[in-house]
Amino acid sequence: MTIPHLDPDHIPRHIAIIMDGNGRWAQRKGLARAIGHKAGVKSVQKIVKAGRELGVQVLTLYAFSSENWQRPALEVKTLMGLLKSYLKLELDNLTKNNIQLRAIGEVERLPAEVRDVLTDTINCTAANNGMILNLALSYGSRQEITRAVKAIVGKCLAGELSDAEINEDTVNDFLYTSDLPDPDMVIRTGGESRLSNFLLWQASYAEIYITETAWPNFRRDHLISAIADYQQRQRRFGKTGEQVQKQP
Ligand code: IPE
Ligand code: IPE
Ligand code: MG
Repeated sequence: MTIPHLDPDHIPRHIAIIMDGNGRWAQRKGLARAIGHKAGVKSVQKIVKAGRELGVQVLTLYAFSSENWQRPALEVKTLMGLLKSYLKLELDNLTKNNIQLRAIGEVERLPAEVRDVLTDTINCTAANNGMILNLALSYGSRQEITRAVKAIVGKCLAGELSDAEINEDTVNDFLYTSDLPDPDMVIRTGGESRLSNFLLWQASYAEIYITETAWPNFRRDHLISAIADYQQRQRRFGKTGEQVQKQP
């Protein structure tokens, strides 16, 4: 693989990754899906480090979806175990690299032992400001938007908000990601061309990058290729190419 040169002034601020293809990666090798998930943890460590070094400000990783609870109980158990051990193992690295951990999703659905380590890691890294590592755990965009709608209706019923005041910023304020910039790029590994209920609101104008590379094979150089691809694109946000070029 030739490693492209990146423009350091044009690194996407927020990269969100759908880490897919673990199971198929393992199955292709005649191994159990769990081995694929285990191998995927290594990729997480490598990509977090690379993201930090490349100057990414927010890295959101889709680790477990609301829908993934429907998987066989043993696979869910494996994933929860890996999450717990990753968090325990990673605290030192996060601290050393000045990375702040956050989580989005229905974290209350996670087993108590995972939640406890998660809360500890979030608290221990809260003052770090080198990069935000945002884990999407038991996350689903429709659930997130429904939750926001309920909260807004609650405010209206309590007389704290009027319908005339509701705008896009109001909706944004009630999402898990309220204080984060929208993702500039969504990467999906494993080759599927779908969003699978990931950041549907926030990714409205994200550049989408799909790679056949399975998550356990995804490394720094793949991330660099994805960012190089992003840097070739013209983001128009509904305007014409000419209008966008005129901008300073
Ligand atoms: C992604 O890999 C990990 C999770 C969804 C938790 P998959 O387990 O979905 O792998 P494939 O898509 O079956 O290969
Ligand atoms: C999306 O992958 C969720 C995560 C990567 C955590 P899935 O493997 O669950 O997505 P589908 O089911 O193929 O759409
Ligand atoms: Mg999958």
